[in-house]
Amino acid sequence: MKVISVLNYKGGCGKTATALNLAYELSKKHKVLLIDLDPQGDISSKFNDDFENVNGISEVLMKEVDINDVIYKTGVNDNLFYIPSKLDLNDTAEVLRTKSQIAILQKTLEEIKDKFDVVIIDNNPNSVTLFKNNIYAADYVIIPINIYKNSIKGIDYTIKKLNETLEDSPIDLHIDYRIVFTMVTYIKGQPTDYAKSVMKVIKDYYGNRVLDAHIRMQSKPSQMQSFNKEYFATDDLKTSYGKDYLSLSNEVEGLLNE
Ligand SMILES: Nc1ncnc2c1ncn2[C@@H]1O[C@H](COP(=O)(O)OP(=O)(O)O)[C@@H](O)[C@H]1O
Ligand SMILES: [Mg+2]
Repeated sequence: MKVISVLNYKGGCGKTATALNLAYELSKKHKVLLIDLDPQGDISSKFNDDFENVNGISEVLMKEVDINDVIYKTGVNDNLFYIPSKLDLNDTAEVLRTKSQIAILQKTLEEIKDKFDVVIIDNNPNSVTLFKNNIYAADYVIIPINIYKNSIKGIDYTIKKLNETLEDSPIDLHIDYRIVFTMVTYIKGQPTDYAKSVMKVIKDYYGNRVLDAHIRMQSKPSQMQSFNKEYFATDDLKTSYGKDYLSLSNEVEGLLNE
């Protein structure tokens, strides 16, 4: 079982879109568990309108329920499952913080390591403790960057925090991180000059950490479509958005097989 955490301290950079579309595409070949670790429950609401009233990741981290009891079917296919979250994850994060529990997610995932091929975690790192739990649990961190959102500061901060967590860890953690650009604007079939310039600065600094695939800015019609509960980008390979998420999934699958 490989654990992929989709992280960035910045909001609105495509974490949820990336976690969802990656999980969906990988579930065509692998057994995939999607964990919603964002108290807003954006992933959870896609699969269950009543997500605020069911047990989820909070109760697992608080050791109130067994992880196996909160793994729900998505109904999308036979391979894609999820664990929901809700607002009380904020309180759980606070409890974990006071007890310095930064490896609880990792320990919990050990219990299901023979059940899934891939676990993908969606985040909203308002909580440093939840962020650290990700670093302990993950084999790979994928950092989506919205090139229009002060992205350079966001990436530097996220990677600084990642490295600090690794350095402070009493045990040897093996983690590999990669960067993916999202919301890349195109004109005449290629990235705009602004997009190119931002991507170049980050690529010059982070080199091979930057994935080859990038996600283009979604057109208005496909943005509307993504509100549809059944919608996944790669179901519509006529759109550049769909093609981009397919390329990203293929690249990530290559990483998993390395
Ligand atoms: N490639 C894209 N092009 C245009 N809009 C996008 C793209 N990816 C995500 N969005 C939209 O941008 C907003 C933020 O994306 P989201 O995945 O929720 O980010 P995060 O989880 O990091 O906050 C959402 O409304 C989403 O539908
Ligand atoms: Mg999100």
